[in-house]
This record gives sequence, structure tokens and C-alpha cells, in this order.
Amino acid sequence: MIDTNNRLISPIERQGDEAWDLSLRPKTLSEYIGQNKIKQNLEITVAAAQKRGEPIEHVLLYGAPGLGKTTLAHVIANEIGANIRVTSGPAIEKSGDLAAILTNLEAGDILFIDEIHRLPKIVEEILYPAMEDYALDIIMGKGPSARTLRLDLPKFTIIGATTMASLLSAPLRDRFGITHHLNFYETADIEKILRRSARILGIEIDGEAALAIAQRSRRTPRIANRLLKRVRDYCEVKGDGKISVKDSLEAFHMLEVDELGLDLIDRCILETIVNKFQGGPVGLNTLAASTGEEMDTIENVYEPYLMQLGFLDRSPRGRLVTTLGYKHLGLTGPLV
Ligand SMILES: Nc1ncnc2c1ncn2[C@@H]1O[C@H](COP(=O)(O)OP(=O)(O)OP(=O)(O)O)[C@@H](O)[C@H]1O
Ligand SMILES: [Mg+2]
Repeated sequence: MIDTNNRLISPIERQGDEAWDLSLRPKTLSEYIGQNKIKQNLEITVAAAQKRGEPIEHVLLYGAPGLGKTTLAHVIANEIGANIRVTSGPAIEKSGDLAAILTNLEAGDILFIDEIHRLPKIVEEILYPAMEDYALDIIMGKGPSARTLRLDLPKFTIIGATTMASLLSAPLRDRFGITHHLNFYETADIEKILRRSARILGIEIDGEAALAIAQRSRRTPRIANRLLKRVRDYCEVKGDGKISVKDSLEAFHMLEVDELGLDLIDRCILETIVNKFQGGPVGLNTLAASTGEEMDTIENVYEPYLMQLGFLDRSPRGRLVTTLGYKHLGLTGPLV
């Protein structure tokens, strides 16, 4: 079985991505490519808050892995010239952990909480008054003699990021004044991201090669940058270092990434449904058993992109490969 998290075209951060992510991360809204609606809105938000001399409202950013949520949180902090403190849902285990972070904030600071859907419930409850009234309620003592002590906090901004907005509780979601949903990128924007990354890294890349990489990036900047890295390695070893479309296509052939960015596992899932289950419907658990993958992984990692391409359908009776999916495998069907 292939290690899912180590797939070349996985949108999830892998070992080795971090250093690249840091050097390639845009710092300002004008450097941040695509997501134009969100950028326009944020420009107004930032300008209005600066005019009033107040911190911006709490911001919730949600969208699939690798689309630029963390990057955008840092961009916002940079645009308003605020300090940013970074933490994450699973890192805050006890209410005391959050209290310690909050009491250390200064007016105007930004607290970035990544994976905010993974905050423990008791911690979340501390966050409600903190977000709404800039107050920390501390319970002193136990039982009938317990008292609540209210501590004022400086005015700060929370930026929360999540890949699973549906797992966020309604009261928490409601406390964000601003919510932005990051979408998958247009191919043209991914090409821009690739050209920018190549410039920063001092790599020469021709236009056609940037397009070929963009088309295989599953519309995700993190995957695009990772593919650029692998294609650069190939061109350095096999070519003259400059990234040409010919070398790029050879590299993708070797890496077994097809023209839509599907890899062996994606194709294995489609082929299993077609060959073993006449195109479906097949239940998720049966599919998992037949492909040797975890149900969770199939559902959250592979299916979203296959469905986005229109190759796979979810029905109440299970998963189905569509006519488009058959076509991509070079087959006709499904037989109706
Ligand atoms: N709009 C953009 N313009 C240019 N580069 C981008 C953009 N968005 C993301 N990137 C690049 O993609 C990389 C991944 O983005 P980022 O880490 O912000 O994604 P994320 O949404 O926080 O992912 P995760 O859900 O895994 O935390 C960044 O380091 C950056 O290099
Ligand atoms: Mg992130």
C-alpha cells in the first residue's frame, strides 16, 4: 500500500514542504494570487479598521488543505501591521492553556488558531466571552461557593482556519464577524503562482511547462509548488536545468501523475469500481476492503477531487463511476 500522506499529489502538508512553504509564502495581499473576491473584501476590512483605529473583526477561513489559509492569515496580520500569535485546536488541551495565551495578548494582536474545529469543547466555551466581550471568565472554587471572576482582555482578533467548517459548532461559527471560503484555483492563477515561485527560486520555466504543471496540480497551490520542485529535480538531472514542457511531461510520466493530476491510487479506485463492481454502486466499506485503503482516507482524500472532476458520484447505494470517469480510463460505458 502507498503511504497516503506521502503521495506527491496529496494536498496535505508533507515533510519537506515546510521550508518551501515559508520561502514561497506571499506576504501581502497584492502578492497573494487568485481568490479575488476574498482579497477585495479583505482590503475593505483592513482599510476600514485602520481608519477607525480598531482591530478587525474575528475572521474564519475555511477550505480544502493547501489552498492558502495559513498564508492568508499571515498576510492579513502583515497588512494591518499586527503581531500574530500562532496556535492550533489540538495544541490547546485545557482551558488554562487558552487563558494563558489570551492574557498574554496585547491590544490589536492577532491570534491565529489553525484547525479550530479540533478545539476541545471546554476550551471553546472560554473562547465565547473572549471573542464577544473581550473577557475571560474564571471560575473560582467548586460547588455552591464557586464564584466567577471576570477578567478584561485587550481588544484582539482571532483568525480561525479549518478544512472542515461543518465540524465547527454553531455558537463558535456565529462569533466570527467575517467568514471566507477559499475555493480551488483557476488554472491561470496556478500558472501565475508557479511563475512567481520559479522566479523566487531562480528557476527558468517556459510558459507551456508552467501550464502542464498547473493542469496537474489539482487546482491547489501547495501541490503546484511541490510538483515544480520534483520537475525541477528531473530537469536538473536529465536536462539542462531549465524547465521545458518536454522534460516536464517526461517527469510526470516517470512520477505516474496523469494529465489531470491523478496518480495510481486515484486510478486504482476508479478501475476497482469499474472492473470489480461493474461501475458501481459499491459501498464505501467494500471499496475500502477491495483497494486496501482506509474508508476515511478514500472519503476525505481521494473522493473530493474525483467528484470535482465529475468522475465519481456518491449515491445512497454507494459510489459510482460516471461516463466521464470511464472516458478518462479510456473505456466506454457504463452500460445502462
Ligand atoms: N494565493 C496564493 N498565492 C501564492 N501562493 C500561495 C497562495 N496560496 C497558497 N500558496 C502557497 O501554497 C502553500 C500552502 O498554503 P497554506 O499553507 O497557506 O495552505 P493552508 O490552506 O493553510 O493548508 P492546510 O489546510 O494544510 O493548513 C503556501 O506556502 C504558499 O507557498
Ligand atoms: Mg494551514
